[in-house]
Amino acid sequence: MNRARFITLEGGEGVGKSTQIRALAAALAARSIEVVTTREPGGSAGAEAIRTLLMEGNDDRWDARSEALLFAAARADHVARTIRPALARGAWVLCDRFVDSSRAYQGGGGGITDAEVLALHRFGSEALLPDRTFLLTVSAAEAARRLAARGDSDRMGNKPADYQARLAARFLEMAAAEPMRWRVVEADAPAPDVTAAILAGLAEWLP
Ligand code: TMP
Repeated sequence: MNRARFITLEGGEGVGKSTQIRALAAALAARSIEVVTTREPGGSAGAEAIRTLLMEGNDDRWDARSEALLFAAARADHVARTIRPALARGAWVLCDRFVDSSRAYQGGGGGITDAEVLALHRFGSEALLPDRTFLLTVSAAEAARRLAARGDSDRMGNKPADYQARLAARFLEMAAAEPMRWRVVEADAPAPDVTAAILAGLAEWLP
């Protein structure tokens, strides 16, 4: 009941992950749970430095293999320096994206397989997986509206609409393949309703 839990939020751009992480952290803190909120790429000093390498520059700055290695390296540092120590002291960790983003973005095309992404994860992060992963889904129209409102234009965010559609399908496929870990949450709804749906997906572990 009181074991630390590692929870991740996944999905395409503009699905509201960061809003939900903040709301969830508050809801868990209100239940006297120590919470660490973090994100990928990033979440430790080394991983944030790698994030800058990944997010800045032209689309072709990295070839597919180098990019996959950089995400895996950032994740390894994040796991070793932030996530494992937090879980070891009993804190819950809420993370905005994790290895499933690498599986969807790097492993979803570009010549890198899911098995290869998972092999990098075994080496880099000793295959750490979340206890629960929430896939936030929004309609394509809603995602476009939110992205326009946010004015996103970093290197990773500059992808065409058909890419976003393939990505959404890939996330749904991963969720369906591992139903014990994943919960799919419709995120077109108002933010408080989405938070309630996520909390319902954690009910078995909540005090
Ligand atoms: P975000 O901060 O908006 O979530 O941006 C992170 C970007 O990096 C987003 O476009 C997804 C991408 N990404 C990957 O391609 N692979 C990964 O492993 C992670 C964590 C993120």
